[in-house]
Amino acid sequence: MDKNEIIKIFGDWNLWDKDLNTGINRPYYLNKIKSFHESSHIIVITGARRSGKSFIMRQTAKALIKGGIRKNNILMVNFEDPRFVELNTKTLQQVYDVYLEFLNPQEKPYLFLDEIQEVKEWEKWVRTIHELDKAKIIISGSNAKLLSRELSTLLTGRHLDLVIFPLSFKEFLKFKNVDLSKRFEIVNKEIEIKRLLREYIEFGSFPEVVLGGEKRQILLNYFEDILNKDIVRRFKIRKSKELISLAKFYLGNISSLITFSSLERTLNISVDTVEKFSGYLEDTFILFFLKRFSYKFREQEKSPRKVYAIDVGLANTVGFRFSQNMGRLAENLVFLELKRKEMLASNLELYYWKDANHREVDFLIKEDLKVRQLIQVCWEVNRPETKNRESRSLLKAMKEFNLEEGLIITDDYKAEENIQGKKINYIPLWEWYLKEDK
Ligand SMILES: Nc1ncnc2c1ncn2[C@@H]1O[C@H](COP(=O)(O)OP(=O)(O)OP(=O)(O)O)[C@@H](O)[C@H]1O
Ligand SMILES: [Mg+2]
Repeated sequence: MDKNEIIKIFGDWNLWDKDLNTGINRPYYLNKIKSFHESSHIIVITGARRSGKSFIMRQTAKALIKGGIRKNNILMVNFEDPRFVELNTKTLQQVYDVYLEFLNPQEKPYLFLDEIQEVKEWEKWVRTIHELDKAKIIISGSNAKLLSRELSTLLTGRHLDLVIFPLSFKEFLKFKNVDLSKRFEIVNKEIEIKRLLREYIEFGSFPEVVLGGEKRQILLNYFEDILNKDIVRRFKIRKSKELISLAKFYLGNISSLITFSSLERTLNISVDTVEKFSGYLEDTFILFFLKRFSYKFREQEKSPRKVYAIDVGLANTVGFRFSQNMGRLAENLVFLELKRKEMLASNLELYYWKDANHREVDFLIKEDLKVRQLIQVCWEVNRPETKNRESRSLLKAMKEFNLEEGLIITDDYKAEENIQGKKINYIPLWEWYLKEDK
């Protein structure tokens, strides 16, 4: 590839002589990356398309510069740039050489390699540079398998994973200019926060959707892009209609139990295909499958899974009508908040719980080897039979795991109730979101 062309590409992605738009800072992730930098590991940033990975990379680079790193010690390249004609390890080496030649960095450079999965055998090059300790490397892309899982085998223990999610509710409020820095102000802002929670439940929290108009159209485009570009094209899928109907089915059935074999009948797609496609959908972070808790591995693997979407706006746009499914949407939102935490802490595991009598608890959190917390999400506590069912199941599980307290997340009901010597806390979703120690 022509050197001048590479230099032109550099010009568009770097902060050397101009300021790039980095949007609104997301300190939650920036602080994680900062703490990662102190180790010598490769940092791997993954997450759904449009969740804000590239913006977070830029924010990180800007923060480094602010912290005293010279601008020319930082190289940012996005390998989705169509001007790259060939993408292999030779391209990577050439990009690196041109950078060294023209920018002449004086210290160990930071390399931000965005959409690296586009480069064939990238992991070999990355590993060599890292082993020779020539650079600090931060890579990103939107496919779990093509990045971290493959990397794990190649770079055992030498990389740190950070999965970027669409905005958390706290981040969402920041994007909507609601300042939460003073705790006492939250009380005054209750009405506004509740109104914004409605919007959050309806349209979800992809940054561009939160900030822009035409929300439904943006979400529909995301759905098509993820399916077509990241799955159909990449894995050369012929049965694209089946893939789309499976994805739509999942998005219309969030927070429900599913088995691959029942989908075979419902959608008339073979079990093998359902399984393969479900794996692809999971790898692009559009969906998550939650397992049932069990001490027996086989039972855990064989039980139905619960399906959740990366974003409730996507489920509303592609899957079903918002007003009829508030409870399921709220459950999906709670899942996302817990999952975000689980993915960052290696000692946490998230499951649902169900006993032989079909009593169910939405979320069970295991910390190290112990079950620490049980959470129900219940949107209809004003219906006595629903409230009873949910609290009884919770109580049953609390007894099984010897927990003194359980939590029920609600729309608007707040209370502390004591039953059979144990305590159940009811808390509205918005308040739970804003609690520091969840
Ligand atoms: N922190 C932010 N502040 C303001 N807008 C943002 C922010 N993060 C993302 N956006 C908006 O969302 C869009 C997508 O963000 P970004 O390109 O960073 O996502 P991505 O995860 O890299 O997506 P892709 O996988 O398609 O490359 C941006 O073009 C911008 O409009
Ligand atoms: Mg990007």
